[in-house]
Amino acid sequence: MSAVIENLKEAILGESNAEIKYRLFAEKAAKEGFHEISKLFNAISNAEAIHIKNHLKAIEKITDSSPDLNSFVKNDTNELKKSVKSTRENLIQAISGETFEFKKMYKSYIKTAKKNDVYLAEFSFNLARKAEIIHSKLFSEYLKKLDNNETIKDLDIYICQICGNVELGAPPKVCPNCNHEQIFFKKFLN
Ligand SMILES: [Fe+2]
Ligand SMILES: [Fe+2]
Repeated sequence: MSAVIENLKEAILGESNAEIKYRLFAEKAAKEGFHEISKLFNAISNAEAIHIKNHLKAIEKITDSSPDLNSFVKNDTNELKKSVKSTRENLIQAISGETFEFKKMYKSYIKTAKKNDVYLAEFSFNLARKAEIIHSKLFSEYLKKLDNNETIKDLDIYICQICGNVELGAPPKVCPNCNHEQIFFKKFLN
């Protein structure tokens, strides 16, 4: 059980770092004139905040207490600032971060939660993991467009408020990640 709580805390820290990093990447992309890429970074930053909220709720329900976020969410702001490179490199970094999360981190956290029968944690890890796969795909699409010198269309971006799934253009009838209805999608306002 304690290992599962530790993993939830680690996941919150990781998501929090990603949330900050993507904001910094968004600023950089805007400076470089890549406004659509900037918008995607900001939108996905918001989506990571939903994962934090879900993991936190899981800790609260499992332990029947409210954890002190400051005791384990220690963001190294200088390190995060140092990680900002060119927008192309930032997209590659983002893809690699998301890939690490869905291929390694969340996979192992899900295994531990399952082994310990902590369903609430397993559920929250699973939702986040599947959203990270989608985030990674979106970053990859934009990287490809950037590399091919294609214009990136100014599409509306919708975020599922339940699971942090991000959809371009229009919200689906049902979220493919968490199965919640369209009403749970919120249009992202940059
Ligand atoms: Fe993500
Ligand atoms: Fe969803």
